[in-house]
Amino acid sequence: MKTALGYVLSALVASVHASSLHALRHSPLHDERQIPPQLDYNLYPRAACDNTNKSRHCWGNYSIDTNYYDETPDTGVTREYWLSVEEGACAPDGYARQCQTVNGTVPGPTIIADWGDSLVIHVTNNLKSNGTAIHWHGLRQSGSNIYDGVPGITQCAIAIGQSMTYRFKVTQYGSSWYHSHFSLQYANGVFGGIVFNGPATSNYDEDLGHLFLSDWSHVDVFTRWFAARNGQPPALESGLINGTNKYDCSNSTTDANCTGRGVKLTTVVEKGKKYRLRLVNAAVDGVFQFSIDKHKLKVIAADLVPIKPYSTSSLKLTEGQRYDIIFHANQAVDNYWIRAGWLNACQPNAHPDSITSVLRYNASSTEDPTTTSDVTLSSDCLDEPLASLVPHLKIDVTNIQKSFDTYLNISKQVDYIHWTINTSSLVIDWANPTLKQVFNGESLFPTDYNVLAINKTTTDKEWIVLVIQDQSNLGLEHPIHLHGHDFWILDQSTGTFDASTSPQNFKTKNPARRDVAALPGNGYLAIAFMPDNPGAWLCHCHIAWHASEGLSLEFLEREADIKADVSDSDRTQFDGICQSWSDSLGTQAFPQEDSGI
Ligand code: C2O
Repeated sequence: MKTALGYVLSALVASVHASSLHALRHSPLHDERQIPPQLDYNLYPRAACDNTNKSRHCWGNYSIDTNYYDETPDTGVTREYWLSVEEGACAPDGYARQCQTVNGTVPGPTIIADWGDSLVIHVTNNLKSNGTAIHWHGLRQSGSNIYDGVPGITQCAIAIGQSMTYRFKVTQYGSSWYHSHFSLQYANGVFGGIVFNGPATSNYDEDLGHLFLSDWSHVDVFTRWFAARNGQPPALESGLINGTNKYDCSNSTTDANCTGRGVKLTTVVEKGKKYRLRLVNAAVDGVFQFSIDKHKLKVIAADLVPIKPYSTSSLKLTEGQRYDIIFHANQAVDNYWIRAGWLNACQPNAHPDSITSVLRYNASSTEDPTTTSDVTLSSDCLDEPLASLVPHLKIDVTNIQKSFDTYLNISKQVDYIHWTINTSSLVIDWANPTLKQVFNGESLFPTDYNVLAINKTTTDKEWIVLVIQDQSNLGLEHPIHLHGHDFWILDQSTGTFDASTSPQNFKTKNPARRDVAALPGNGYLAIAFMPDNPGAWLCHCHIAWHASEGLSLEFLEREADIKADVSDSDRTQFDGICQSWSDSLGTQAFPQEDSGI
């Protein structure tokens, strides 16, 4: 017997495919790939307190109260997936172009597992002219830094025709996403959802899975880079919800690529039920203020951190962020607009208001909704108020051992605009990842790898603080993402950081905790994390153009302990991936025009 949740999720995967297949033609490689086996949701019996629609806090012998940093169930289950990074014709919004995809769809298939499972994910590069590497956003990768999926940091780029197998343990639960970390590749469509089943802080009846909010270019983003890199990010033509939308071709009648055959995503609900949605901002460059006309949203998780539920009529997501929400289908039986809520104040889009999908109470209705929104769109590009984001599992920051006070600047260099942190802008080499240098015992890292070394100094729990002060004077917000950790948000302020007085205002009592937070324009962001995970971990702006422009640093955490986490077979694969990248003359075949990440 499958659990109800299991059915919903497998149905969801099927429907995501079905809707994206409308818009996407399979590339020829599609039929050659192996098809993953059916999931069996009965492998892990949850007894002690069963997770049902009336007891979502339960999870067998574990629960929403379990300290998931210290404890993980061991299900003994390994789930295996096959992802093919490929390219082909597509028209997700009814505008024909070439896309890069995972398994032929945008988004790619959802990776689904239970908290405590192990994942084995085979990624094959079936592209024609790019390397690739897949990053599992927000996963702490405790003890598995080598599978974090960043070319030039934790691995070499995967060469064309090669496969790499990522192996890691599911120590968190909730909603996330995976995406290529090879330059701008994810903005061409290489991303998909991650669902780790586990407890939740509020009850709901059904899980509707992911709702990916993204902007969408009608031109390959690698082409667009040549304009973007001079500091004027282009307004993209369109936007998608779960990889689909209807682009209006009435003003493009002479453009043969504008087919007008796009479709809006439709979500059908039953009056009276409560639904969970997993929102992701997968934009290249854009902030959303999500809402569903006439419906309240109950927010239950920020990134992979369950929070005390709060209710709101709209929700802001910066790039890379996720929120899990529950909405009650308690309105009149009708059709309602679901609005991504593009914020033009952050970045223009050619059709900001058309990034919508349809909520139907009556499945047989074919009408467009006629509802209007009560939401006033925000004029800033910041996060939800920190006071709203209270982690359910309370953890205070108690023992700060080290603080890095860093400064963000911008400079025009010969090739492109570079963002610098502490005078250095990140540029990595796909053939020479930081981990390779660590394995070779090198102790000096290239300046443009922007490495900050951190170590553990006590045997107690301790925290490292990173302060980024924006000195670029451009007034732009930056969503800062740290790999390998959740971080505690100590401060997020529009002022100037003063090392002697500002720390007195740090919020250390169970502050908001997550993996992406906005750095306010001309202000500063102060985050804390525990040096409990040896590895090379990127910390970067999740605006894709800015990451390409080097807005990143890299923590080299407990270098001496890294090798111990790497098995012989991990290492053999690592070396093989590097060897095949150099044998294929990867970097020469596809010249690196940006930071590489
Ligand atoms: Cu969404 Cu460096 O990642």
